[in-house]
Amino acid sequence: MKPEITLKEVNYENYDELIDLRVKVDQRNFVASNIYSLAEAYAVISSKGYALPFGIYLGDKPVGFLMIGYCPDLEYAKGICNEGEEIPYFLPGSYEVWRFMIDKRYQHRGYGSEALKLALEFIKTKPLGEAEYCCLSYEPENEVARKLYRSFGFEEKELPKGWDEVPAVLKL
Ligand SMILES: CC(C)(COP(=O)(O)OP(=O)(O)OC[C@H]1O[C@@H](n2cnc3c(N)ncnc32)[C@H](O)[C@@H]1OP(=O)(O)O)[C@@H](O)C(=O)NCCC(=O)NCCS
Repeated sequence: MKPEITLKEVNYENYDELIDLRVKVDQRNFVASNIYSLAEAYAVISSKGYALPFGIYLGDKPVGFLMIGYCPDLEYAKGICNEGEEIPYFLPGSYEVWRFMIDKRYQHRGYGSEALKLALEFIKTKPLGEAEYCCLSYEPENEVARKLYRSFGFEEKELPKGWDEVPAVLKL
């Protein structure tokens, strides 16, 4: 039977329990902490940008965190890329799975796959505006993430100049 996973918006009721979630020590390099991601989401939203943070829940139990971004056009892409970073062709006009983690206590039980499936279904409704692609990136040594994204149809791309994470792209 499929796990009953849902995505819930982050609000005053649940932000605290999401901050408590942790990856394994040897995975800390793969994803920012949830407290950092929520601070970043606040900063992006208050600068009129796009960030949609969600808790990943098994029933009422928080098991992970996921954040979706949106880059409508080249102007916005210039604002989110650091100096010296190439703007790849797929970034303007894309959604991003920007952060994605399952707490160390709940990994390898199918929750991550189910959450990613829900996130992609949501992205395909184009909730923030039109887009051609969904993209994301991962550390080159993150084999679990690479395999998972590939199973959803993400195609790995060459490392753009100035990037240190491998991008992968799904045509919407
Ligand atoms: C990547 C991550 C979100 C996957 O979540 P998860 O709930 O553990 O994944 P699932 O249980 O749904 O498994 C997805 C696939 O990965 C495989 N997998 C999961 N954990 C694994 C492990 N420790 N070793 C080997 N394979 C593993 C599963 O077997 C499954 O593959 P299958 O469909 O071929 O069986 C989770 O491992 C994680 O939080 N990692 C640390 C943070 C991170 O890397 N985030 C992504 C940043 S880009």
